Amino acid sequence: MTTPTIELKPSANLVTEAERDRILAAPGFGRYFTDHMVTVKWTEGRGWHDAELVPYAPLSLDPANMTLHYAQTIFEGLKAYRQADGSVATFRPEQNARRFQRSARRMAMPQLPEELFVGAVDALIKQDSAWVPGTGEESLYLRPFMFATEVGVGVRPANEFLFMVIASPAGAYFSGGVKPVSVWLSEEYVRAAPGGTGEAKAGGNYAASLIAQAEATKHGCDQVVWIDAIERKWVEEMGTNNLFFVYGDRLMTPALTGSLLAGVTRDSVSRIAADLGYQVEEGKISVDEWRRDDANGTLTEVFACGTAAVITPVGTVRSASGGWTVGGDGQPGEVTMKLRKALLDLQTGAAPDAHGWLHPVA
Ligand code: COI
Repeated sequence: MTTPTIELKPSANLVTEAERDRILAAPGFGRYFTDHMVTVKWTEGRGWHDAELVPYAPLSLDPANMTLHYAQTIFEGLKAYRQADGSVATFRPEQNARRFQRSARRMAMPQLPEELFVGAVDALIKQDSAWVPGTGEESLYLRPFMFATEVGVGVRPANEFLFMVIASPAGAYFSGGVKPVSVWLSEEYVRAAPGGTGEAKAGGNYAASLIAQAEATKHGCDQVVWIDAIERKWVEEMGTNNLFFVYGDRLMTPALTGSLLAGVTRDSVSRIAADLGYQVEEGKISVDEWRRDDANGTLTEVFACGTAAVITPVGTVRSASGGWTVGGDGQPGEVTMKLRKALLDLQTGAAPDAHGWLHPVA
């Protein structure tokens, strides 16, 4: 089966320049969407077809649409940054394309060719390049996703899917300067178990996480920290982010056991840290070790990373059995801030792209 080319059917009714400027002045995160979207259909026996860039518009869904009932849906998230020279580039989009394929496999969905994933994202950015904010940490957040479109309530893999890409301008995550987050250790709820869907970017994982996030909020915390499902002691992730533990010039991140999401930012941070001379390891850390190493001063900083927030310092930890402050004072650490700057400089073209991670688009 051949990969379809994307037919451009642009909108005749663009958002006015004044309205776009108003939105770009304070976009927040995920609240506004650009003028267009990409849609590509998949049908059993026919493969991928009808690839189009069309005006952004609501979808019409049959009440028996299978996704509404059984959640056969996956997504990705990546950002396009305005570069120092005014051009626009995405960051390691092929990594998102490959993870999308792994997610699809786990959720019994069809494989989208890497070039169609990257081509669809590129086409949308090119068409809506006026929506890429102009400075620093602001970006255009791309949301590729795929869901079952077959109608019926029989439980089996669907035989029709829709792949789409939408885009949303995103402001700097920390508008008033980087602020450490407080985390709640979720002892009651589990995000993912061995053999489950934890390493897939599947909508259901996020649905299952919401009650624990609400519990964290109820306890005055910004984010939830997930503990492993079997022994209920090993730290896995924070909310939708991967975690790093800093021991002086040694960094440790929880190993990908199958129940963690393989973050593109996680991998990029590991490699940038190694470039900067840090020793980077994948391992295991229990809640007790985290508390102990913080108390004895060997653990100097903890941070979380992901596409949306880039790098976020962790300042305080709370759980049903008490809590503690990270790194003595709970303030953003030197290593955290150094890595954050190095990553953002690379993504925005302010530093040389030694790994060839930038993908020029417009
Ligand atoms: C990320 O930070 O990379 C995410 O996955 C967040 C997204 C679910 C909004």
